[in-house]
Amino acid sequence: MTTIATAKAHTNIALIKYWGKKVPALNIPTTSSLSMTLDKFYTTTSAEFSDEASDTLILNATNTDSTRVSKFLDSLRDYYGDFPKVRVRSENHVPTAAGLASSASSFSALTGAMFQLLELPKDEREMSRAARRGSGSASRSIFGNFALWNMGNDDKSSYAESFYDEDINLSMIVAEISSSQKKMSSTLGMQLAQTAPTYSAWVEKSAQQLEEMKQAIITHDIEKIGLIAQDNALGMHEQNRQCTQPFDYFTEQTRAVIDFTERCYRSGLLAFVTIDAGPNVKIITDKTTEKELLAKFRREFPEISFEVAHAGGGLKYV
Ligand code: DP6
Repeated sequence: MTTIATAKAHTNIALIKYWGKKVPALNIPTTSSLSMTLDKFYTTTSAEFSDEASDTLILNATNTDSTRVSKFLDSLRDYYGDFPKVRVRSENHVPTAAGLASSASSFSALTGAMFQLLELPKDEREMSRAARRGSGSASRSIFGNFALWNMGNDDKSSYAESFYDEDINLSMIVAEISSSQKKMSSTLGMQLAQTAPTYSAWVEKSAQQLEEMKQAIITHDIEKIGLIAQDNALGMHEQNRQCTQPFDYFTEQTRAVIDFTERCYRSGLLAFVTIDAGPNVKIITDKTTEKELLAKFRREFPEISFEVAHAGGGLKYV
């Protein structure tokens, strides 16, 4: 019998975003989304049965509130049958200031560890569904390179799958902009965004952008990928400003980095932005341009730290 199981999953950045839920309890989204899994940032998670009174979480060697993890484990108990309490140990290799969605790598790694611990068949589609119930974006981190999360309309039909399992030389320069703003979680942020009068138009446009994005990935057209991803992400953030309780993840520095990226693009370099639920900007470029672009950004923003990431692999057992 397996007594302890360890899995490692990388974070992913959506090129076509998930920003809204049709069924909040199951994280069934309002749009399909498409992401690239990153090589750099990952989470390693071990799970073992324990005789404690509740599930526990040790995150980066610190006892941490396990409410969300326990809720996720309860969903596994509902689906696969009851099991004892679990001790979860997780190490996040995601720079704390980067505000990269660590819930994607965390719930994907935890899903992997639990499937091993429970000796469930490691069916990727089934694992993606399970990870999705923990955190929507985690459904995509099961897969390496490019993953497509088909929104579906119920628990069975909503899962991610590998879309294109090849490195197409796309680079992401992560600009780590810190913020003193109180963090609005993605869960709450998207719930509010859905109240924007322009939200259904964004959803509709997203379906069209997804089809164009698929073509652009297959043809390795980085310029097209960047243009579509940027339009999709800026549109997502516009919903936050248009909703009934407007909010904004952007800071002054976020806007400065966006403007500078645009100037770089106009000067003939491949440079586009995508932004998630925080102030940080990921600059989309290719491997040929990344050095020149990185040097420019470092000169322009000496106070910001930049890190370059490429496509990474899917869930692995350690
Ligand atoms: C902006 O997956 O963190 O990164 O399902 O509520 O846990 P929950 O949300 P989460 O949302 C990620 C939102 C995003 C876009 C994306 O990754 O597609």
